Amino acid sequence: MTPSTGRSSVAAALLATLLGLTDGNVTCVCEGSHCLQSTCRGAWCLVAAVRPRDDPPYITKNCGRNNYLETCLGFPEEVIALRCCHGHMCNQNITLDLPQGPGPSGGPPPSEQLPLILGPGLALVALLVLGALACWRLGWRRHRREKRLLQSRELGESSLILKTSDSGDSLLGDLLDSDCTTGSGSGLPFLVQRTVARQITLAECVGKGRYGEVWRGLWHGENVAVKIFSSRDEQSWFRETEIYNTVLLRHDNILGFIASDMTSRSSSTQLWLITHFHEHGSLFDFLQRSALEPATALQLALSAACGLVHLHVEIFGTQGKPAIAHRDLKSRNVLVKSNLQCCIADLGLAVMHSQTSDYLDLGHNPRVGTKRYMAPEVLDEQIRTDCFESYKRTDVWAFGLVLWEIARRTMVNGMVEEYRPPFFDLVPSDPSFEDMKKVVCVDQQRPTIHNRLAADPLLSVLVKTMRECWYPNPSSRLTALRIKKTLKKLSPTPEKPKVAY
Ligand code: ADE
Repeated sequence: MTPSTGRSSVAAALLATLLGLTDGNVTCVCEGSHCLQSTCRGAWCLVAAVRPRDDPPYITKNCGRNNYLETCLGFPEEVIALRCCHGHMCNQNITLDLPQGPGPSGGPPPSEQLPLILGPGLALVALLVLGALACWRLGWRRHRREKRLLQSRELGESSLILKTSDSGDSLLGDLLDSDCTTGSGSGLPFLVQRTVARQITLAECVGKGRYGEVWRGLWHGENVAVKIFSSRDEQSWFRETEIYNTVLLRHDNILGFIASDMTSRSSSTQLWLITHFHEHGSLFDFLQRSALEPATALQLALSAACGLVHLHVEIFGTQGKPAIAHRDLKSRNVLVKSNLQCCIADLGLAVMHSQTSDYLDLGHNPRVGTKRYMAPEVLDEQIRTDCFESYKRTDVWAFGLVLWEIARRTMVNGMVEEYRPPFFDLVPSDPSFEDMKKVVCVDQQRPTIHNRLAADPLLSVLVKTMRECWYPNPSSRLTALRIKKTLKKLSPTPEKPKVAY
């Protein structure tokens, strides 16, 4: 796939999701590469002039939904002019002048540049005003402390500036806690997401792999994590962005989402996912460095189980969420927070299910899970791919392997083992599908468990739990909720707050 095809496929999918596929009550003209048909249905209609960084500007027509901000950040490139209208096919006869922007072939003479600078500037100022109104309507003014959050200022090409509060609190925390989110999802309004992303400076690379890179970045002095997706993994960016922006996923044990951003840079597309940064890194990294006390091992295991339960459960009602199965659970995709609780990361392969609407959303990602962590029914291709429960059961298999990784690094009677990945003694370092299938399905092998663990009351429960995640029959395995309840019984109960009557 060429970079530009990649870019347009992601852009088209993003636009289709944000705009085209949302039923509303007016029919509008749809024009542009994102259109599935010549008309679409939405809450209102629009005509936009879009200027990609490296390509000439173009005009597109589409349907709009929710609010103007969402729509405008739905465009992967800069929206430089936007006209909206309400009514059946009302965008049919609207025309927009296409500005002769300073494109790749050089800009217009300086005397003609002022209106071109003012045009986008005014459009952005209008967007800021609309953004402020949208936030105000979402109940922003109810929260006094949030008054200081968003101060926009015109600078250069009139970009939205998010200023740090002088209170010393986390401005990001304030922003994310405010009511001013995209509505249904976990994210900020799209224009704010883009603005945050573009104000980040990358400080150091903390991880590199086939997926791309993870950087520690700084946003107004606060650490953030920036995952930069490799171009071949654009579908993971798209899926994760989609899930975080459509599902309310704020939970202590799920990696906190801040923003997603797509930029075109010299004929290739950069895809960023910005999340909370966790100093300890992944559980995989953490276990290399640290031997654990049994109580710490239990806390890591229980908190990860809480994250998995939250993903797996469908929550009904307006603040609800669909059930989600992760499909690539492993110690590299679990992060360790400063309080030694885990949170689950990487929703790029996740599938969603809603019982209420009997809807199974498998996504379109050609990626598969990590072979080392694949359940037997995935390896022997017997998994029922049309059944959501199947995916949760493969997560439980992988979760058992993560428990095993934790248990190996736990000290009992002064003994501990080196960190090793699951099946390290049975398959080569980058095992093939066939290597794994032979070990897990044909020979029915399971990770070896050191007998020191039987001497500790907590660890022996952990061992029993992991074994019950590894039954060959997926329906015999524990559920995430059962794992959580079992581990919770072992943990010291937090002291109940004393209430004075
Ligand atoms: N490695 C991968 N994601 C990370 C994050 N959010 N924080 C720290 N290290 C990471």
